[in-house]
Amino acid sequence: MADPKCVIVRDPANGREAELPVREGTLGPAVIEVRDLPSRLGYFTYDPGFVSTASCRSAITYIDGDEGVLLYRGYPIEQLAEHSSFLETAYLLIHGELPRPAELTRFTEDIRRESLIHETLRKFFEGFHHDAHPMAMMVGVVGSLSAFYHGELDIDDPAQRYISAVRLLAKMPTIAAACYRHSVGLPFVYPRADLDYSENFLNMMFSVPSLQYGEDAQWYLDPVATRTLDLLFLLHADHEQNASTSTVRLASSTGANPYACIAAGIAALWGPAHGGANEAVLEMLQEIGRPERIPRFIARAKDRNDPFRLMGFGHRVYKNYDPRAQIIRKACHAVLERFSPADPLFELAMRLEEIALNDAYFIERRLYPNVDFYSGIIYRALNIPVNMFTVMFAIARTAGWVAHWLELKADPGQRIGRPRQLYVGAPRRDYLPPAAR
Ligand code: ACO
Repeated sequence: MADPKCVIVRDPANGREAELPVREGTLGPAVIEVRDLPSRLGYFTYDPGFVSTASCRSAITYIDGDEGVLLYRGYPIEQLAEHSSFLETAYLLIHGELPRPAELTRFTEDIRRESLIHETLRKFFEGFHHDAHPMAMMVGVVGSLSAFYHGELDIDDPAQRYISAVRLLAKMPTIAAACYRHSVGLPFVYPRADLDYSENFLNMMFSVPSLQYGEDAQWYLDPVATRTLDLLFLLHADHEQNASTSTVRLASSTGANPYACIAAGIAALWGPAHGGANEAVLEMLQEIGRPERIPRFIARAKDRNDPFRLMGFGHRVYKNYDPRAQIIRKACHAVLERFSPADPLFELAMRLEEIALNDAYFIERRLYPNVDFYSGIIYRALNIPVNMFTVMFAIARTAGWVAHWLELKADPGQRIGRPRQLYVGAPRRDYLPPAAR
């Protein structure tokens, strides 16, 4: 990276100055490198929530939140959504280039071969009560993969790192579907070699003995269902240094087992401010229920004394329409037409969006629908239960997590992630025996 510029920071208390280099990336704002600040001026920097701090260099994903731009390895999300598939996009994220046909065939084959889970791992599910949240099962089961792949795993070997990344991508739909089957008490379904990634997932979720459900039992292999699911996976595949990816990076920076690192990412994704938002949107729409009740909920979202927020609205980075939300909104029409015509929740969501986008509170704060405002409506039309929505996100985001893990591991300058703090606790004091307190 060239550093033609620098900024000068001056401490007026003592007149000391530090010249801090400005680092330019290929796109987006440059950054001021502050790593020498403590030795030069004796200060750390303070930036809760990492609002203006770059934690790493990365060549994977670029977002321009003001313009509503999202690029995976330089390719606009709109072009990938139209022409690519989830697995091709995962390859792009991992390798940095779109695959040639033979490369994609080999990658798809690698994924297919790794999609089974160890029979012993299946038994882990028996430890969960049937009503355990699927994300709780995901965190536990994905983390426990580290027990199967640890001793002989050499994460300094790029070939072994690649296999770990493939294994994670491949096993995620199998584990996710197993979470669902466990919760409804149905037998687990093995992945099939003749189905693609999204078809396989839907088959593992919904395949039932045809005697029980009749000839239409394979509704889920309808191309509208499988293509839309593939599109949702592609749109959720990566989003640069979001909370879960940063968690994966932080855990990875210690040299931890990759399966444990991805489990940490799943845990971070679960929260309603992040991947849990799609589940929260559906619950919110159900709670609103009817268009005439929308103003009451908009008023609550604007009330500082009310913790209620309009779920699926707002984003730390996008201060414009989330480009993924626009693509999903369009996809909603096709899926609903096929599987759930006249879904009242879709009508309600469109009305809510229209009212919010014309409200001064949302306009002033530049709050727009994010990726998850409409994704839940599609999942609902595909019969995916609400508590599985964040699991769907986790399957897709695994592509990004492993790409970031691989990038971090290949970076020779990588150091353990260890933030500083502004200590506001008690100054040094002496221990008092109980009777003297
Ligand atoms: N509803 C109502 N008000 C909101 C919303 C919302 N959804 N989002 C932000 N605001 C308001 C805040 O109250 C704040 O108002 P103020 O300036 O008067 O105090 C202002 O907008 C800025 O919001 P912050 O919380 O400072 O923004 P931040 O970047 O920290 O949070 C977040 C971003 C967490 C996404 C937030 O917008 C939110 O909670 N949205 C709802 C949850 C959601 O949809 N999350 C999914 C994010 S996308 C993803 O992870 C896939």
